Amino acid sequence: MRHFLSNGEELIIRPARLKDAAGLLANYQRMTAETDFLLFNHNEALELDVEGEEAFIKSHIDKPRQLLLVAEVKGQIIGAINVDNTGHDKRTHIGEMGIGVAKAYQNMGIGRRLMTAMLRWVEEHDDLWLITLQVASANEKAIQLYRNFGFVEAGRIPDAIEITPGVFSDIVMMYKKV
Ligand SMILES: CC(C)(COP(=O)(O)OP(=O)(O)OC[C@H]1O[C@@H](n2cnc3c(N)ncnc32)[C@H](O)[C@@H]1OP(=O)(O)O)[C@@H](O)C(=O)NCCC(=O)NCCS
Repeated sequence: MRHFLSNGEELIIRPARLKDAAGLLANYQRMTAETDFLLFNHNEALELDVEGEEAFIKSHIDKPRQLLLVAEVKGQIIGAINVDNTGHDKRTHIGEMGIGVAKAYQNMGIGRRLMTAMLRWVEEHDDLWLITLQVASANEKAIQLYRNFGFVEAGRIPDAIEITPGVFSDIVMMYKKV
């Protein structure tokens, strides 16, 4: 899907391909230096490698209930959204999502477009109808984005993530029935 950003640049949102591994990894590693709201910290992210990223992409290409979309500007991956499914028969209907957009491209509507594309894909999969996510309570912008798309809070686990050394945040569990 092609879009135009307010600065005139073209944004492409498309499924990840194996050859995106290096670009996707570089974007993730960069994002972990820019935000404390991702699961990996920067040092952990630097330990990831291209082979592992290829395996991550492949698992999303091969499994019908998994999705990995990338956001690309000027040939560079600057964001992604994924939906993971455990593969257990009892949980075929559940997908857990994650999203990230590089700082230089935030607040341009890319998160909103990734969410829209993800939910369209979910709508096409009748057997997948419950999307869940976990977000740090301090991540107000992400929570607002999720609320905008009808996600509701199911509860929170106090101090479940150490955002920076010694600084703990609640984890908010959110869900949407599609
Ligand atoms: C959360 C994130 C994906 C949003 O991406 P984005 O491209 O900046 O989002 P958008 O520009 O589409 O804006 C999304 C919404 O955020 C809301 N928003 C923007 N700034 C906000 C702020 N300061 N406070 C609260 N809400 C805000 C708006 O409602 C906006 O929706 P609108 O444009 O329809 O009004 C991005 O900030 C990010 O990757 N952050 C770091 C990684 C992260 O936190 N990932 C989620 C982990 S659970």
